[in-house]
Amino acid sequence: MISRDDERMSDMDYRLMVFTMNVIDFFFSHIEKRVARFGIQPGMTVVDYGCGPGRYTIFYSRLAGRQGKVYAVDIHEMAIDLVRRKMEQYGLDNVEPVLAKGYDSGLPDRVADLVTAIDMFFAIRDQKAFLGELKRITKPTGLLVIDDGHQTRSTTKEQIAAAGGWKIVDETKDHITCRPA
Ligand SMILES: C[S@@+](CC[C@H](N)C(=O)[O-])C[C@H]1O[C@@H](n2cnc3c(N)ncnc32)[C@H](O)[C@@H]1O
Repeated sequence: MISRDDERMSDMDYRLMVFTMNVIDFFFSHIEKRVARFGIQPGMTVVDYGCGPGRYTIFYSRLAGRQGKVYAVDIHEMAIDLVRRKMEQYGLDNVEPVLAKGYDSGLPDRVADLVTAIDMFFAIRDQKAFLGELKRITKPTGLLVIDDGHQTRSTTKEQIAAAGGWKIVDETKDHITCRPA
């Protein structure tokens, strides 16, 4: 079991990352279009795992709607603060920010219709423990959307296969979709 600080960026690195994301989003806003392909329906419970500043959380919240719920999970307190600010700014009543400890989100078992891990799996050191936690919180009928981030597709697929617990059911250039095995 890793300690909760092992994968946590320094505050300075975190600020730099958020600044870079803001610049990218200002010039090249691709997120809404991307999220439209994740299959989020009204009423779903969605977990934005490794939510960062909540760039995806906003769109998940709108698609899940008033009957739905979005858990925005991150290991860094700054992410949780930024999501809280976005909730106020955009009136995101169906979002709950969650500070994870190590690979423990503290969410209930089998809560999620959809879990996403966007631009973060490549940084995970213990993929088995991480994917185990994601499986624990996903309904047996639920799905996981995961992308490669800064690693190759073959590495991502090898890591998923080696960790076990998930079966790949769809694959596009953008992301991989898995269901609990
Ligand atoms: C590059 S950012 C991506 C943020 C967001 N998904 C996006 O694409 O805008 C990676 C995020 O994953 C978080 N993270 C890294 N390891 C984590 C873990 N074990 N549990 C939860 N969050 C984690 C980091 O704190 C950071 O906010």
